[in-house]
Amino acid sequence: MYSSKITGLGYYVPENVVTNDDLAKLMDTNDAWIQERTGIKERRHIKKGDGNSTSVMGVKAATIALDRAKLAPDAIDMIVFATLSPDMYFPGGGVEVQEMMGMRTIPALDVRNQCSGFVYAISVADQFIKTGMYKNVLVIGSENHSGGLDMSDRGRGVSVIFGDGAGAAVVSRNDSGKGGILSTHLHSEGQHKNELSLQGPSTEYWVPQIIADNPQENIPYYPYMNGQFVFKHAIVRFSEVIQEGLEANNLDVKDIDMLIPHQANLRISQFIQQKLKLTDDQVFNNIQKYGNTTAASIPIALTEAWEQGRIKEGDLVVLAAFGSGFTWGSVIIRW
Ligand code: ACO
Repeated sequence: MYSSKITGLGYYVPENVVTNDDLAKLMDTNDAWIQERTGIKERRHIKKGDGNSTSVMGVKAATIALDRAKLAPDAIDMIVFATLSPDMYFPGGGVEVQEMMGMRTIPALDVRNQCSGFVYAISVADQFIKTGMYKNVLVIGSENHSGGLDMSDRGRGVSVIFGDGAGAAVVSRNDSGKGGILSTHLHSEGQHKNELSLQGPSTEYWVPQIIADNPQENIPYYPYMNGQFVFKHAIVRFSEVIQEGLEANNLDVKDIDMLIPHQANLRISQFIQQKLKLTDDQVFNNIQKYGNTTAASIPIALTEAWEQGRIKEGDLVVLAAFGSGFTWGSVIIRW
């Protein structure tokens, strides 16, 4: 059995900065409320005409990751693309990346696990490498939230949280015999599927029915979130799955050099930090600048932490996510 490691990281966010004050011009909200409840100061939104889309941002992040891994697109054996906001209903973003990067006819797989998407995608890549089937897998998390948010007063409880962006990692066979991805841990609990969801359009709720149900001009197929319910489950599951990963490797929270939590909400990250008794140096947060970018949040944060020299060879790095589904998971890495 082989092992895998992350050999290249990259991220991309659109240039257009949207502050809390900018949002207050569109809906009944304010900077103090958003910062106090979420920690977010600003986020990036794709601007009409800037050429970005979920797949385009994914390609930009992937290009940097490939460059750092010193690999040409031809060396990639598989793409795993995590998003809840693909450019098209179908096909997914993976094939668009394959086409845009001029890659061989390698498999391209889309993962639909929302905030846990990147953790699930890394786990998929890890399994394909462990079995010896592939040597280099490109994992991308990318989201265009701004294209689908309700920017009226009605949407304020959800829309202030989310931002656009993409992150990518090259996962390669680890020939060094040292470290790499030690284990991945995945869970889901479908009974809570409606608590954080976007109902239509889907095969259960297709466009003609949405129009029949909502005869007004603006058809509300916007995300729904039961914020407090999500919050309560997130803090329990995050902590559980981090502990599960550590225990599986006979490690302790004290061994963590860097925890990269999915950037759901600064209060959730702080709660986990407190619960696990982690120091500020052991946890990386950048939600203040980018908002919650769901599947892109972990690779963006991981890349920034690495760029800032906060992750070094030999470090124990833990990725953890919780999100819609509910789905959650962790990845334990010896860097
Ligand atoms: N600006 C100003 N006021 C607002 C806004 C806003 N953007 N949104 C809601 N309010 C108001 C509400 O109308 C309500 O007013 P009322 O008391 O007069 O009825 C008041 O603020 C409190 O609303 P709550 O929804 O109870 O606020 P809460 O303290 O729960 O904070 C939040 C909302 C931030 C969404 C919180 O529940 C939360 O963090 N939940 C976790 C969910 C999360 O992080 N989701 C991220 C995506 S999921 C994931 O990534 C895991």
